[in-house]
Amino acid sequence: MTTLETGRTVGAGIDRVDAPLKVTGAAHYPNDFSIPGMAHAALVGSTVAAGRIRGFDLSQAQAAPGVLTVITHLTAPQLERGPMTLLGGSPPAPLQDDRILHYGQHIAVVVAESAEQARHAARLVRVEYETEKAVLGIDDPRAQIVENPWGLDTDRGDIDAGFGQADVIVEDTYTTPDNTNNPLGLMATLAAWHGDALTVHDSTQWPHNVRTSLAAIFKVPESGVRVLAPFVGGGFGAGLRVWSHVILTVLAARQVKRPVKLVLTRPEMFTSVGHRPNSVQQIKIGATRAGDLVAIEHHGISSVAMEDDDYEPVSFGSAVAYACPNVLTRDRQARLNIPCPGSMRAPAEGQGNFALECAIDDVAHAVGMDPLEFRLRNYAEEHPLSGLPWSSKALRECYTEGAERFGWSRRNPEPGSMRDGRLLIGYGLAGVSYPFYQVPCQARASVRRDGSAHVRSAATDIGTGTYTVMTQLAAELLGLDVSQVRFDLGDSDMPYSPQAGGSGLTGALGNAVHTACRRLVQEFLDVVAGDAGSPLRGCLLDDVTVGDGRIHRVDDPAQGESYADILARHGLEELSADGRSTPPRSEDLGMAPAGAFGAKFVEVRIDPELGLLRVARVVSAIDGGRILNEKTAASQIIGGTVGGISQAMFEETATDAGTGRIANATFGDYLMPVNADVPDMEVLFLGGPDRATAVGTKGVGEIGLVGMAAAIGNAVFHATGRRIRSLPFTIDQLM
Ligand code: MOS
Repeated sequence: MTTLETGRTVGAGIDRVDAPLKVTGAAHYPNDFSIPGMAHAALVGSTVAAGRIRGFDLSQAQAAPGVLTVITHLTAPQLERGPMTLLGGSPPAPLQDDRILHYGQHIAVVVAESAEQARHAARLVRVEYETEKAVLGIDDPRAQIVENPWGLDTDRGDIDAGFGQADVIVEDTYTTPDNTNNPLGLMATLAAWHGDALTVHDSTQWPHNVRTSLAAIFKVPESGVRVLAPFVGGGFGAGLRVWSHVILTVLAARQVKRPVKLVLTRPEMFTSVGHRPNSVQQIKIGATRAGDLVAIEHHGISSVAMEDDDYEPVSFGSAVAYACPNVLTRDRQARLNIPCPGSMRAPAEGQGNFALECAIDDVAHAVGMDPLEFRLRNYAEEHPLSGLPWSSKALRECYTEGAERFGWSRRNPEPGSMRDGRLLIGYGLAGVSYPFYQVPCQARASVRRDGSAHVRSAATDIGTGTYTVMTQLAAELLGLDVSQVRFDLGDSDMPYSPQAGGSGLTGALGNAVHTACRRLVQEFLDVVAGDAGSPLRGCLLDDVTVGDGRIHRVDDPAQGESYADILARHGLEELSADGRSTPPRSEDLGMAPAGAFGAKFVEVRIDPELGLLRVARVVSAIDGGRILNEKTAASQIIGGTVGGISQAMFEETATDAGTGRIANATFGDYLMPVNADVPDMEVLFLGGPDRATAVGTKGVGEIGLVGMAAAIGNAVFHATGRRIRSLPFTIDQLM
């Protein structure tokens, strides 16, 4: 493995290369596309959460102006369920029978000449239900419980013996609510059939998955399906799966033999594209009086839809966070009549870390130790499950340098002891060990006669900066200026890319781009291998380096030539090379590939008379491995931190216990922080390139959120002496 040499371009906080397109409106998001002759679709959602459809009265809807068709389960064709994917099974195919499994389930799709006509007619669809009593709560005894759904339950040491050695045991229940992803962009699909070929614009985080899934669902050749998503208005995980509305748009286009566009409404975004499922967690931690952890036991149970799966091992993070000899983690799911959950902004970690890091603070408090010192004392020097060394871990530096920057030493350990006038002040922290995740990826790189490069892969940029960091990386690896490199993505006809998700795309794609660019330089060397006119003839890849649009010899930088000269002399228009990345495995490395680590330091201010909680300052110290762009990476952490403030203090998807209806499915009712709720946030990047891969990134997409709920909760405890174990931290809990 040749590792990336640090250089001129990688790391620099350059502005986003796609910024001009975005601010001038030239970036086209899925719902910006139109096709001549296009019709529009609107969905009808179930208004009960469980039961059957007895019948429809479609007469008014069908007679409404502009209506082309109304499709229900009575008229829809049989559809295959989508395939098993990297992220688990596909959601159920829509309109396959008369059963209702959740409120908002798509039970009909109306197609009309205009979007307004379709929506108007959708309201005229009359449905008669046979209603059953829905199962809506994790605690409902009728809920079916799925044991160990991901095979990730862990046992280390002897948990009972561990608690037997404990001088102090903390045992509590934590709860986290349903949250809804809510990317700003309403998710949209535009589908056009040409015979058995299909073109789809879609708000997806994974074009290849949409291609593979639609080909399977509609039983057409995958090669004829093209999925485009060059710009996506955010995702937060909502675009990872091929949801019912995507399938219904494609179905509608096939039925009316015209292109069809469907844009979800904001309320539909709460029931159609996943959500973070609620959790109930029991956590029990034992320590000696000296402050050594001896046992951690963490049981998590999350809700899941009736006929779907979802990946939320909320307790698993507790198995890899600390050096503790006796650990037991268990995860279960309760099947409910709820919309399909899905990954949302640090799925599982976001919930599990809240319980773990609050309980760790309680143990530190019980043994009379500073919570920072307690974490450092129980630091996992090796990967706790495998015993292998980490491929990199700078969590210690995150704790110590973050504490320094924050001014942790000014903290008076006594709860309720720090004040500013009538406001109580609290300092809190949390540690984060984010799991490693990478999957195979491919990319293709070309250099043309004019000396410019074109690199592409079917990835997406959901606002994270993929266009920018991959442009920088390719420029570095080819020795070009950023302005000479064009990076394209968002087209399933490009080389395979996995999803933008799991904080894994930059690593997977970066390593594929690395391989493609190295191979491309090799292609140039192959062309001049026997070229008597080239100073590079006979050179091997390790004999050369790149810069200023040239390949030159390491031993004599004056000896070299430009890409353009080589291509011109050999009568070539361009040279191209493919690269692929394979995720590192601990068996091959003799190390545990590490995800990102972080420490979050938070100051809160609380008005005890009004129960008002404000976050005053946040310092995020992050080990994200190699940082490809300081600006976009810091933006990721800042965005995640805001998401964490949101999870801690604002977001809660409220389901009506009687009907299963989501009661706050609008931006007016679903609370999120505004500028006044968000303080100045400092971000420190620590550590260096990870050893497990050539590019050495570790993924900073999700870690920014994790730890915020616990750090705020720990700060609230420090300010008030009150431990709140239920998110979000609302005024009533603070009074
Ligand atoms: Mo992320 S929740 O893996 O898009």
